[in-house]
Amino acid sequence: MSVGAMYPGTFDPITNGHQDLIRRAAGLFDRVVVAVAASPNKKPMFGVMERVALIREVTAEFSNVEVMGYSGLTVEFAQKHGLAVIVRGLRAVSDFEFEFQLANMNRHLNEQVETVFLTPTESFSFISSSLVREIATLGGDVGGFVHPRVEAELLQRCGREVKP
Ligand code: COA
Repeated sequence: MSVGAMYPGTFDPITNGHQDLIRRAAGLFDRVVVAVAASPNKKPMFGVMERVALIREVTAEFSNVEVMGYSGLTVEFAQKHGLAVIVRGLRAVSDFEFEFQLANMNRHLNEQVETVFLTPTESFSFISSSLVREIATLGGDVGGFVHPRVEAELLQRCGREVKP
């Protein structure tokens, strides 16, 4: 039986931690859909289609990974696309409480969809998209946290010089 999974998130922008999780999910499931939530309440720096395009570029090596944008409920997206599993990342104990609530609420909304947690490589456990955006905006180096393509987009968005 072929098992498909979705990896939902805002990905504003995708970080090395997210990429690490996508790689792990791609090795476990037959099909992985990275589902990019519009998340208008987070007032994202990048539009949903810009985030989708960036993720497509940096995950091009995985033949079983697709990237789509969405704006409704995560469990509805899973059902519509025949995905039995929601993959979420746990970076630290501090992520647990929110993730536990999210997983239980999603189960309440749709019993058929299971949430599976993966942990990123330890060295990526402190990365978050908002910290990356803040560092880029304040002139810091984000090269160790994001793909070079993402770094270039961030620097451009912040009006900083893009490295050759
Ligand atoms: N590596 C690096 N960073 C990671 C990470 C990893 N492996 N896993 C999570 N993060 C970061 C994210 O970048 C994000 O950083 P930020 O807040 O600084 O931007 C932060 O951790 C929180 O991420 P996450 O919990 O994934 O939030 P999100 O906004 O990216 O995704 C949704 C939340 C979209 C999955 C959730 O709001 C949702 O399902 N929305 C759809 C509507 C819905 O169904 N609502 C009902 C839910 S019960």
